[in-house]
Amino acid sequence: MTKNDVLFLNAWFEQFTNCFTSEDPEVAANIRYKREHSFRVRDYMLMIGRDLQLPKNQMILAEVIGLLHDVGRFEQYSKYHTFKDHLSEDHAMLGLLTLEREKILNDRTNESEKEIISSAIRNHNQRVIEENLSDVTLMFCRLIRDADKLDIFEQIISFYENPSKTPYLAVETNSEDTRYSTNIIESILNGKQISYTTVKNPLDIKLIRLSWLLDLSFPISLKIAQSKQYFERFKVFIPTTEDTRQVFNYIEQRVFQKLSVLSEKVKP
Ligand SMILES: [Fe+2]
Repeated sequence: MTKNDVLFLNAWFEQFTNCFTSEDPEVAANIRYKREHSFRVRDYMLMIGRDLQLPKNQMILAEVIGLLHDVGRFEQYSKYHTFKDHLSEDHAMLGLLTLEREKILNDRTNESEKEIISSAIRNHNQRVIEENLSDVTLMFCRLIRDADKLDIFEQIISFYENPSKTPYLAVETNSEDTRYSTNIIESILNGKQISYTTVKNPLDIKLIRLSWLLDLSFPISLKIAQSKQYFERFKVFIPTTEDTRQVFNYIEQRVFQKLSVLSEKVKP
């Protein structure tokens, strides 16, 4: 792929997503938020890629994956009025179908580039990355998962902090309800990846999202999360109990440990 292909895909993305605007303010807002999210995730991909000193051809792939990773969200929202995959469809698979149908990658990617883009999109929203991927494909899967989460953290925390800034944002509001499920606490403390379908109490989803900090792979992602104070800002919305304190300690320790191990690795 070349820089020209990126320019084409940017123009295509603008045009494609513009087709989903609506007179309904709620739909219009959420389509706009998803477009903006796609651009910010693309920028995070470039930021992480630069930090890893990826070669030019991989920077192009990183940019394209960032831009297109949520392309399925637009059809998902306009069809189902939700971004919840378990109540509609897997938006990653929907995105891959969209790319196939629109045939925008066919003449622009070779087999290996197409495989990397498809695998990264397919795995960006899964609990765990599928096995038996090549090292380079796995790296792109990790890249998009980091970039995506970094922006989702900011979106959700900002929404809790100031809901009027992003009206209609289709995520759960900051519930004052303090009930949580002990099996969610146990799963986090046992290092398990948790499915949304196990969410039963209002606090469960917040705890799951906080635990995403454990899934960040690259040192720069952990540093961005740290500098934006995602952990501290998120914690404000979770009451401290004996159980949640254990979760806080576990996450804080793991993230700190990971950051020091990864930083050690990249030292010359
Ligand atoms: Fe997504």
